[in-house]
Amino acid sequence: MDIKISPSILSADFSRLGAECAEVLEGGADWIHFDVMDGHFVPNLTIGAPVLKSLRAAVPAFYDVHLMIDRPDVYAGDFVKAGADMVTFHIESGCDPAGTLDLIHELGAQAGLVLKPKTPASSVFPFIDRCDMVLVMSVEPGFGGQKFMEDMMPKIRAIREYADRNGRPDMRVEVDGGVDPVTAAVVAKAGADALVAGSSVFGKKDRAAAIAAIRKSAEAAYRKE
Ligand code: DX5
Ligand code: ZN
Repeated sequence: MDIKISPSILSADFSRLGAECAEVLEGGADWIHFDVMDGHFVPNLTIGAPVLKSLRAAVPAFYDVHLMIDRPDVYAGDFVKAGADMVTFHIESGCDPAGTLDLIHELGAQAGLVLKPKTPASSVFPFIDRCDMVLVMSVEPGFGGQKFMEDMMPKIRAIREYADRNGRPDMRVEVDGGVDPVTAAVVAKAGADALVAGSSVFGKKDRAAAIAAIRKSAEAAYRKE
């Protein structure tokens, strides 16, 4: 199984962001997960498109951009132009999901929707045709290092099964929050094939070993119910 491991820069040392990203990519990471927060949609602030533009120029990679902001329809284009390969935004943001997914595609990036823990799987079903990926949060968005919510697994399973039944076996299901070598097996078993990992990668001295452990555990467990 082709499982993508996407280390979240939220737990990186921001004074050395390029070097930190280069290190995890060399250590086996598939993507870089770029968390954008606006202090409105979530109670925290991070970084914006200019940082992505500089980072991408310095460190070529697949940039998996997670927008935790109020107006993704207004800002998504800036991130695509700055070099995002995938842009995901929250269904709870209140913007037009279909129009925003189309806009991201028209600009040339992949696109997807994100669900907070309290949002049901069915909220994304009408848009599954337009999604390259659906991201299921396994913590409340806003901060790294929180406790993994195992009760999100039925949601991952429901989205995976709905996509399979509706002609989208190619659509990825990503999970974000509290993923480590132990919980990686739990999410992969439920059907997640893209795993975000912040503190369990950047918080470790040997990042390559941390990524390898997450990958090994996820690959062994993928959809083995
Ligand atoms: C949380 C962010 C996550 C976060 C994950 O709002 O979207 O990407 O950095 O961090 P860990 O893996 O430490 O839970
Ligand atoms: Zn994230």
